Amino acid sequence: MESIGLNMGNWEMSGTLSAILFIAANAYYPARVIARNNVSTIVDSSLFFENYLKIHIILNLLGVLVALFHGHFADENNIILQISLLLTLGLTVNGWLMYYSIPEGDERREPVIQLQRVMFIAWILVLIIGHSTL
Ligand code: HEM
Repeated sequence: MESIGLNMGNWEMSGTLSAILFIAANAYYPARVIARNNVSTIVDSSLFFENYLKIHIILNLLGVLVALFHGHFADENNIILQISLLLTLGLTVNGWLMYYSIPEGDERREPVIQLQRVMFIAWILVLIIGHSTL
């Protein structure tokens, strides 16, 4: 394990790992936008997105765990990165709400999905700014 840099003491790996998990999980979002704008070429994408949503959830939950580990063991920190961690938890709770509590077609879903999009953009900005000011 040591030779490939995967020992538990090497927390630096956890930042890269959580980034890879989040990127794979949230490519869901641009993929959905592309599909929405290309209905003529993608005839039945609903099954694909049903499956990708499960991947989105599993990889995001793993990403959150690794990110918590990463934040806990990092030896530098700042308020902006603490805000990013709060946004990560907010995205998780809001995603959970959409999946388990608000069925498709329910009018309460629209504000929740809009909030998710806004938090998502803010999360990316805050992550970049927070890391670049370390
Ligand atoms: C850090 C964690 C997460 C991030 C960054 C994230 C990000 C996003 C984004 C950007 C969207 C908007 C997609 C769109 O507009 O079509 C979305 C949708 C969604 N997310 Fe997540 N999410 C996270 C965690 C979760 C979790 C933990 C769950 C469920 C347990 C979840 C379930 C959903 C559902 C059900 C949707 C709506 C899908 C749809 O109707 O197309 N998300 N998420």
